[in-house]
Amino acid sequence: MNKQASIDLGQRDIEHLVHPYSNFANNRSGGPLVIERGEGVYVYGADGRRFLEGMAGLWSTSLGFSEKRLVEAARQQLDKLPYSQIFGNRSHEPGIRLAEQLTRIAPEGLNHVLFSNSGSEANDAAVKVVWYYNNQIGKPARKKLIGRYFGYHGVTVASASLTGLTPVHTDFDLPLPRMVHTDAPSHYHFANKDESVAEFTDRIANNLETLIQKEGPENIAAFIAEPVMGAGGVIVPPPGYFDKIQPILRKYDILFIVDEVITGFGRTGEMFGCFTYNLKPDMMTVAKQLSSSYLPISGLLMTDKIHDALAQGSVKNGAFSHGVTYAAHPVCAAVALETLAIYQERDIVSHVKKVSPRLQQGLQALQNHPLVGEARGVGLVGAVELTRSKTDRAAFDPKLGLGAYIQARGLEHGVIVRNIRDAIAVCPPLIINDAEIEELLEGLRRALDDGLDHARKQKWI
Ligand SMILES: Cc1ncc(COP(=O)(O)O)c(C=O)c1O
Repeated sequence: MNKQASIDLGQRDIEHLVHPYSNFANNRSGGPLVIERGEGVYVYGADGRRFLEGMAGLWSTSLGFSEKRLVEAARQQLDKLPYSQIFGNRSHEPGIRLAEQLTRIAPEGLNHVLFSNSGSEANDAAVKVVWYYNNQIGKPARKKLIGRYFGYHGVTVASASLTGLTPVHTDFDLPLPRMVHTDAPSHYHFANKDESVAEFTDRIANNLETLIQKEGPENIAAFIAEPVMGAGGVIVPPPGYFDKIQPILRKYDILFIVDEVITGFGRTGEMFGCFTYNLKPDMMTVAKQLSSSYLPISGLLMTDKIHDALAQGSVKNGAFSHGVTYAAHPVCAAVALETLAIYQERDIVSHVKKVSPRLQQGLQALQNHPLVGEARGVGLVGAVELTRSKTDRAAFDPKLGLGAYIQARGLEHGVIVRNIRDAIAVCPPLIINDAEIEELLEGLRRALDDGLDHARKQKWI
């Protein structure tokens, strides 16, 4: 695309396109970054610039940007049956095969799948299923759900309510009254002075139990958690965290919903974050890497116990009256099936195990950078946390926009990274190789150096 055409496109964007999670004034003044095409782990701007997509889109394009087999799977399904629905006991082969395949690779006991289109909808469905379930089993008072501060579960009314990030609630009149939040498992952000990681973990587990007591265990239906928090700033749980949380949930008979929307399908170096952290979910949500994000599809997996209650409700009420037009959309399901086949054939989990130490070591090396207070990560996801003082972990004033500045400098050095509060996150496509990891780390390091120069010039440090 020539330069003028690229500028014109930006102008038309400003006039008509509403951007999720964007500052409209910045879009108006600076224009959007228009991406035109992709190849492997790289994307190309409409102005011809090449970027290593260090965020895999939105933590999601696991197989990169030019996987022809996914295109072919979509094409063949479009030719054969471009759409069919699964309400009222209709079905189709791609939907059946995908449900079967997902339950085969999922943590034990998750034998049934309810499909929708996005991670938000899958988590919203989890909330509705939890409420419906408790009504069937004669516990109608059990309706509250516990999320965590910094947790991210999406933007629909219920999933945004489970999300523990203030900007997602502000002026949207959320969270809903039945949603409460407990601690984020971040020692860096929330430990008391001189508190060890083990002491911190004990304290926040005790806080969860105190919250359950306060709200009344008889009123609490479920607890939802991401194995590793993504949009909350890549918060990796401290060792033993989930080993302390899960017995508390069992003690009070509280369902455990694991949100694997980012961590599912190899991201943490196992097929699911559940395997990395030994989680035993009653329900699990998946999306994003389920189809390498080539087409929208998500799933809510559940145990027999929960499914049986839905079945019972469907008989009592005449039907289980929930579902979306595109549930198990045949083309999306065909692409997801091909994605899962590629993961298996190429042993994506072993690939992540092989290349991820280089990413994690590179991030740890950045811990010596004057701006970095903490480097953290697991598998192929990680972040560095910015600080103006390593000794007291002081954050920069968000109004200074240092994180956004570093993110923008990343583009100048050819890498897409993402600023979240004071963190700079990376989450590249799972197919990334060693040389590309070096390139990503180098771009990030240069962007941090630029940030340091900038902060010094502005006398912020
Ligand atoms: C852990 C997690 N859950 C849910 C969602 C929501 O997914 P979607 O944006 O597809 O609605 C996201 C999105 O980033 C996520 O990271």
